[in-house]
Parts: sequence; C-alpha cells; structure tokens
Amino acid sequence: MTVTTQLNVRPSGAVLGADVEGVDLSQPLSAEAFDAILQAWHSHLVLRFRGQRLDDPALIAFSRRFGTLDLAPITVTGEREIPEFPEINVISNVLVDGRAIGSLGSYEAEWHTDMSYNDLPPMMSCLYSLEVPDSGGNTGFLNMYEAYETLPSDLRQVVDTHRCKHDSSRNSAGELRKGARDLKDPREVPGALHPLARTHPATGRKAVFLGRRRNAYIPGLPLDESEAVLDRLWAHALQPRFQWEQVWRVGDVVLWDNRCVMHRRDAFSASARRIMHRTQVQGDRPF
Ligand code: SIN
Repeated sequence: MTVTTQLNVRPSGAVLGADVEGVDLSQPLSAEAFDAILQAWHSHLVLRFRGQRLDDPALIAFSRRFGTLDLAPITVTGEREIPEFPEINVISNVLVDGRAIGSLGSYEAEWHTDMSYNDLPPMMSCLYSLEVPDSGGNTGFLNMYEAYETLPSDLRQVVDTHRCKHDSSRNSAGELRKGARDLKDPREVPGALHPLARTHPATGRKAVFLGRRRNAYIPGLPLDESEAVLDRLWAHALQPRFQWEQVWRVGDVVLWDNRCVMHRRDAFSASARRIMHRTQVQGDRPF
C-alpha cells in the first residue's frame, strides 16, 4: 500500500535547507508524494524529515527511490560495517569490544563533497540519526549555486574554464586512506579531475564544485597560482551567508545533493555516542 500524504515543505530561512513534514518514510511513498519531495529537494538542496523511525531496509527502500545505491566503502579490516546491508555506511564514534562500529570517530570533518575523488561521485547522501550527543556533532551545509552566482568576474573566468584535481589519498578528517602514499605535492596526488563549475543535470544551474581543499590542484596553472586561486575560491564559498546548520535529533533523516552542496561536521565529545546510518545514490560524471 502506498501512502498519499499532505506534504508540507518548510524552508529553513537560510539559502538552503527545508523541513518536509507530514510524511512517514517507513511506508512506501506514492509517485505523487515522491515527486513533491524531489521538487523540494531541487529547490532547497538539503531536506530534513524529523521524527522518523526507520530500520535499515526502510532506509534503503526510501533512498532507492532516488536511484541506484552505491555500496558502502570497505572498512580497514576489509569488511562491510553491516554485512547484511552493504549499502549502509555507519558513521559513528562508538566502539564495541574495542573496535569502531563505523567511521569518522568524534572529530571534526572538514568541508567536503562526498567521494568527489571518484570519477562518478554519488549524487545524493542520506543520513539517518539513531543516537546523537547532547551537544556538538552538528552538520553544516553550503549552497554552491550561490557561491558560483556571486563569484567575482576574474574567479568566475577561471572556474568556467578549468578543472580541479580531487585528492583521493585522504578522508574528510584528513586521515591517510589505507594503502595511500603521503604525497606532499598536490600535482602528484591521485584523484579524479572535475570541472570547477559543475552543471546540475536536473536544474541546469551551475555550482562551484570543490571537493576538499587539501591537495587540490588546478591543472594548467603553476602550483603557486593554483594555490592562490583555490584559497580565494574557498574563502568565497565558505561565507556564512551561504550556510545552514543541521542540529541533530534522534530520528532525523537528512538528504543532500552533492552536486550543489558541500558539508562539514563539528567535533563532539569522544565519551558521547553518535550513530548515523548513511546511504548514497550513484551519480553521473560531472560536466
Ligand atoms: C559526512 O561527512 O558525510 C558525515 C556527516 C556527519 O557525520 O554529520
């Protein structure tokens, strides 16, 4: 049975983010309800659904409405975090028998775009909160359409005509990935090349597409010039006027569009517990 509900979309008041009310994501959505969610997502870039109660199959079923799911990365021990549900990536600092049940610990995750170091980065990330700390661990989001549309003309000229290398050797907490070499020269690090101005395939709007700052490089420019341009671009993009922050409650489902949004996460107390389950929807080659 599908659910036909009266959806209410309540914008955050910032340049991105909206609450979607009146929907139970544990139930199958009608085509009409899903279409309303999709429209809201394209308009507000980050959607939050509060008070949800989802098991892993329901989280997977909802996420699949947006497209094919990526499998979660293999952990350092060579396993999946939840072997029965390989689509679920656990983001958590919790240890069981001395072993981490998920990734990213309790430290800050710097501004980034999920997995942009791949040729086909995921288009959507969906995070569901099962346990949250009393304070800290908030997730910030940036509207990269706004960043693009307000660029000074000299930066816009560079962005419109260049690509950027997205370093695949480190994660968003700055940790070296298993097997990666600790290279200091951004020109030498491995990673995908993507246009700095990315066109959203559904909205047709352009967004600045940055990935991560560390080890980024703009091929075709001398290293010092690439560094100077990237410093200016990042300083422009990180302005508070382009941001909205999610303060988590248990039962929040938050989904964001990696094609036009960057995100970061605050650190929180290592003695607190934070458990999130994340799915990601496959994307296409940025253009
Ligand atoms: C992430 O960077 O994908 C995780 C965000 C979070 O833990 O809030």
